[in-house]
Amino acid sequence: MGNNSPIGVFDSGLGGLTVVKELIRQLPQEHIVYYGDTARVPYGTKSKESIIRFSHENTRILLKRNVKMVVVGCNTSSSYALVQLREHFHLPIVGVIDPGARKAAEVTRNRKVGVIATPATVNSRSYARAISRYDRSIQVSSQACPLFVPLVEEGWLRKPVTTAVAREYLKPLRKTGVDTLVLGCTHYPLLKSVLKDVMGAKVVLVDSATEVAAEVKRILRERHLLRTSGGRARRAFLISDRPQQFEKTAREFLGYNIRAVKI
Ligand code: DGL
Repeated sequence: MGNNSPIGVFDSGLGGLTVVKELIRQLPQEHIVYYGDTARVPYGTKSKESIIRFSHENTRILLKRNVKMVVVGCNTSSSYALVQLREHFHLPIVGVIDPGARKAAEVTRNRKVGVIATPATVNSRSYARAISRYDRSIQVSSQACPLFVPLVEEGWLRKPVTTAVAREYLKPLRKTGVDTLVLGCTHYPLLKSVLKDVMGAKVVLVDSATEVAAEVKRILRERHLLRTSGGRARRAFLISDRPQQFEKTAREFLGYNIRAVKI
């Protein structure tokens, strides 16, 4: 493994593609290997032990592809497994919680931040802790939205039922008067237009993908790991099961066709 090795990214399904899209924008020359654990999605309703085990297994799959860095493109895995992964594997590992938390603390004006995430991420309190590390005076209100992930995996990104579900979940957060909403699950940026409609134009939606990609770039530069060879960047998309919607939704989101390989 060296400069010309790929960056590895994993998620429970296709949510991590929101991170891949931003990595491609900020680091177009880098090879990328993506692994979506579609056979076991969702992670957000599973136990801590399972989430940690899956995260280790996913990292090993990426290591077999000779990656130079691992991006945990899943908030649920980042909440429970990041520390252990960093202790266990000896390569740079970037999570998605801290970059989003930092951004939310920067953006909020009224110091009221909402976090929407999977039940596991909300229970871990990882965002509340990370945000208060940046500014202890910020009031964080969290809401678990377990139905969002299946809606996204199904490709129901703009259906009336999706809006109805979002209205129900976001009702308590709207009452608290948050001016910033953290999309604390990498699937949720796919629902941005629905979430914007429901929250209103004044609430800033924070999607950590931009911040994560910037952090990846910084680390690669610091460690002299940016790709140096010429030629087209290669992108591989691996999945553990083949749901019918994967390629269709991935295309809708990334804007081009991908071929996912089941391993
Ligand atoms: N996309 C993931 C996250 O960021 C996990 C969603 C799930 O599998 O429940 O939390």
